[in-house]
Amino acid sequence: MRKGQSLNLNWLFKPEFKSEYVTGNDYSDFERVHLPHTVKEIPYDSFDEFLFCFDSTYVRFFDLTGIEGKRVVLEFEGVSLYYDLYVNGQAVASHKGAYSTARFDITPYVHEGENKLVLMVDSRERDDIPPTGSTVDYLLYGGIYRDVTLYLLESAFAERFLFRYTLDGNCALAAPELFFDNLGASFPAQVEIALSRDGEELSRYARQITVPAGKGSVTLEPEKLPEIERWDLDSPVLYDVSAVISVDGREIDRCETRVGFRTLSVDAKGFSLNGRKVKLIGLNRHQSFPYVGYAMGRRPQRKDAEILRCDLGLNMVRCSHYMQSKYFLERCDELGLMVFEEIPGWGHIGDEGYKQVAFNDLEDMVLGHFNHPSIVIWGTRLNESADDDDFYRETNRRCKAMDPTRLTTGVRWHKNSPLFEDIYSFNDYTPLARTIPYKGEFMLQAQQQVTGLPYKVPYLISEHTGPLLDTRPSSDVPVQERFALYHASVVSKALCSDDYLGAIGWCMFDYNTHFDHAYQDKICYHGVLDMFRVPKYAAEFYRSQKDPSEEIVLEPCTVLGRGERGEGVMPFYVLTNCDYIDVTFCIATETQKQRYYPSSRFLGLKHAPIEVDGPELWFQPFWLGAKIEGYLGEELVAVFDCGKNPYLTRLEVAADDAELYCDRVDETRVVATFMDTNGHRMRHHFGVGKISVDGDIQLIGPDVVPVQGGTVAFWVKTKALGRKGRATVTVSACRDGVADETVSIELI
Ligand code: GAL
Repeated sequence: MRKGQSLNLNWLFKPEFKSEYVTGNDYSDFERVHLPHTVKEIPYDSFDEFLFCFDSTYVRFFDLTGIEGKRVVLEFEGVSLYYDLYVNGQAVASHKGAYSTARFDITPYVHEGENKLVLMVDSRERDDIPPTGSTVDYLLYGGIYRDVTLYLLESAFAERFLFRYTLDGNCALAAPELFFDNLGASFPAQVEIALSRDGEELSRYARQITVPAGKGSVTLEPEKLPEIERWDLDSPVLYDVSAVISVDGREIDRCETRVGFRTLSVDAKGFSLNGRKVKLIGLNRHQSFPYVGYAMGRRPQRKDAEILRCDLGLNMVRCSHYMQSKYFLERCDELGLMVFEEIPGWGHIGDEGYKQVAFNDLEDMVLGHFNHPSIVIWGTRLNESADDDDFYRETNRRCKAMDPTRLTTGVRWHKNSPLFEDIYSFNDYTPLARTIPYKGEFMLQAQQQVTGLPYKVPYLISEHTGPLLDTRPSSDVPVQERFALYHASVVSKALCSDDYLGAIGWCMFDYNTHFDHAYQDKICYHGVLDMFRVPKYAAEFYRSQKDPSEEIVLEPCTVLGRGERGEGVMPFYVLTNCDYIDVTFCIATETQKQRYYPSSRFLGLKHAPIEVDGPELWFQPFWLGAKIEGYLGEELVAVFDCGKNPYLTRLEVAADDAELYCDRVDETRVVATFMDTNGHRMRHHFGVGKISVDGDIQLIGPDVVPVQGGTVAFWVKTKALGRKGRATVTVSACRDGVADETVSIELI
């Protein structure tokens, strides 16, 4: 489909629906809003979980010119979770599902000049739409939270372009498939395919085809492409492909997409990318953000992929438990972060109508995201639902028919489930059923214990660790440390045993949830990052597995405060990729220095945490601090120094982006870290941050927030006024002697 026109700006919104809003013309008491939008901003915690569950109305006026003989198509990429669409007062269609893209041909309803579309959005949880219908451990929020686009097309257009190929070495045979929507009779056309890399054209060829009548697809005769470079984890090479469809030299449509070439395979011994075995180590990701739920645009979506791949050094993310933003997936493509994407679902299967929505979700996911090389696994079951052999045989069959190249799986929490997919995925929270093992020896079950099969199959840990501990950003250090060690134990075991293709932890960050899945506060504290994507020690564990050539990590699970663990500071672990560490404790009359090496408890890890233990000789009264020095070979490469009497001295404020676009809603995160006199985050500071913004930007969320885990973080967004200039964000620690800090953001 050729490029459309964004309809993201200038909607009228009201948090209720009346039929007169469809036919009437008075919108004077509607609020002017831009997309992405949430029907209701919610507090960080302790809110009424039905706050955003109601009908609301969105209205958008738009102009059309030159539509004679054209088709007008509207595309909604994500609206939570049910809507009716009306155009110029007439009902067009409705859509079920918060995560699927829907397109509507509105040609019969529009005219030259000004037109009006109205959307009635129902953001209540409903029995007829996955994942709702029973209890769900996350919120679905509400509203038009992804892009809306208007297309002006010919009477025949290509709705989808799937770049199918096979690979033999670095030789690719391309056989793209075009899905047409044609109002008229079938007709002959020419398709010209061009392949380029970084703007340089590498191949161009043409095929004669017959565009079918109605809806139907055409697969082009294969073409051998010039030698390609493969998409791989450390070199995620991407190509641009265009398909121009013309009749007698007149272009009727064009499709553009980005692709990557790679092969996938799996057997009981492991998962292979491009013929090379890779253990899948990653985290599950929800797509929610504080206050605005799902309503966050391109930049923060991309940033999440960067955090996973670049900061934490992971190679896989599971999009739990639904299709996620194209912006997130595009960044995964660019960074070499493999994706396991699944259809919406959570522990429940509804009636036949419910299953139909799931089939629709499946088609949207597989065909809609087909060209992303980062996606390597499709999840064809509703997360942790009971076995339903007919249904899951069918979801898997349909998925394979649409995409025979990727691997399929389905996530189970129960044992002995029939396996129709390529991979048996299991959420293993084993210690929940046992005495909590501090050292983590019992972290995972053997695969055949779970599958009940007499032989081994490809078996993936799709979730682990999260609910074993409630780890708040402000939790005591030993709790945070234990959470990090649980992750370390599972990853270690997954890496050194052939039972597992890999392990995907629960989960990337804390998230808002229903009361029956959390404390009163409606937050699941199962993230290795907090809700604002600020790392807990568990995140530092993943970071510490990176090669030291990428980044040297020396992160002690301690603030080295004398009373941290009752009396004394030991034992504690240091998460590091150094070869060894020297720890020096300073007391009144002497210093005690000792060398420590990686623990032997984590056999699978390249960089096992280092346990620091020993007699606390230095215990009595004059604690003057401590120093941890990290070495690579003989070389001192990192120092963590804690002097006497640390206190809050300054704020460090940083924005993820120095520039934002002023002509659209563009968001970035700002993190203020409360620093002590030693240059460390004051993890236990109990205070507030006061935020103010200046210029054409807006703060998302409240302007006074509690400090959690030593930070205050938030997002700001542009007002989309189209004015270039400078905006500033200032954070105050509300403490005498600690200066306010300001960051500038250029609006371009
Ligand atoms: C799993 C579920 C996740 C999450 C997790 C932790 O059972 O699949 O979505 O709820 O438990 O609480």
